[in-house]
Amino acid sequence: MATIYPSSDENISFLSKKILGGELVAVPTETVYGLAADAFNAEACARIFESKERPFFDPLIVHLPVDYDWTRICYPPPLLTVLAEAFWPGALTVVVRKKPSIPDIVTAGFDSVAIRVPNHPVFQQLLSRCKRPLAAPSANPFGYVSPTTAGHVQETLGEKISYILDGGPSQIGLESTIIDLRDPDQISLLRPGAIPKSDIEAVLGKNVQTLERKPENTETMPGQLERHYSPKTPAFLREKIESEEPLQHPSTAFLFYQKPSPSIEHLENVFWLSEKGDSVEAARRLFSRLHEIDRVGFKKLIAEKAPDSGLGIAINDRLRRAAAR
Ligand code: TXA
Ligand code: MG
Repeated sequence: MATIYPSSDENISFLSKKILGGELVAVPTETVYGLAADAFNAEACARIFESKERPFFDPLIVHLPVDYDWTRICYPPPLLTVLAEAFWPGALTVVVRKKPSIPDIVTAGFDSVAIRVPNHPVFQQLLSRCKRPLAAPSANPFGYVSPTTAGHVQETLGEKISYILDGGPSQIGLESTIIDLRDPDQISLLRPGAIPKSDIEAVLGKNVQTLERKPENTETMPGQLERHYSPKTPAFLREKIESEEPLQHPSTAFLFYQKPSPSIEHLENVFWLSEKGDSVEAARRLFSRLHEIDRVGFKKLIAEKAPDSGLGIAINDRLRRAAAR
């Protein structure tokens, strides 16, 4: 069973030694919790795939200490500096051409690497102690709902790993946005996430195209599986839930986008993402609500879409994939 370590200097120092010794440590990030290993240690990274039961064709994101010299691991395109100034440390992941210092297992054999400088003080302390990049996918079993607390990691991966660093609940609650920056004339969005595409376009001064998940795009979008982030409770996605439905179907969980009318809010099968329809709050609660609903054990889950703009786009992406079969 994993041990949860509160984020003291002493614990961070202890866990950095574990990482440098080739062990896995679950870490807090501002987006979701990650399962980290030394990105230069191929064997340690192989254990990430084993613990998550993640297929080897799905590459890992490499997380960097603030001020890390990128040229040690990739060929940085000029626009990387522009994006880094605007969004790093933060919830943007950028795919660039990799150098051989990053082992093939991290990038699933692709000649590109996904990099991000995370903005969580506890994770940054750990990174700066390790003085090297750490590879980390979200710390959930492959295909399951992502963790936003140390407790979520303990519940789902606790049997497979030994160390969890607790940095409190993830502030954002949704994964980073991933863009492919390799071709300056064709910058593309690989995964909608915490930073809206329009914010990135505003900084770049050009359009970012949205790549569709099609078989011919697997080369540029490895691992972007349609079914993902899936609770155990069979999930269905709707445009809207009518407020009489929860009363009629008590064994179904209903996940509203916004707190519903007082006549049904007390029902045990009624959940919501936000009090007043605020997308930041909704994003932060999304994975927590899915974990909570799974713990109760409803027969099914009916979720309602968020308004399809800004962060709502990423929320709907996760809900759609949670409900995919
Ligand atoms: O917010 C996040 O991004 C979190 C935290 C822990 O940083 N990480 C995360 O990792 O969501 P993961 O492994 O659950 O999702 C990363 C996705 C992979 O599914 C893969 O499709 C994509 O990033 N990816 C990684 N390397 C890539 C590459 N070289 N080219 C294209 N896509 C890549
Ligand atoms: Mg994931």
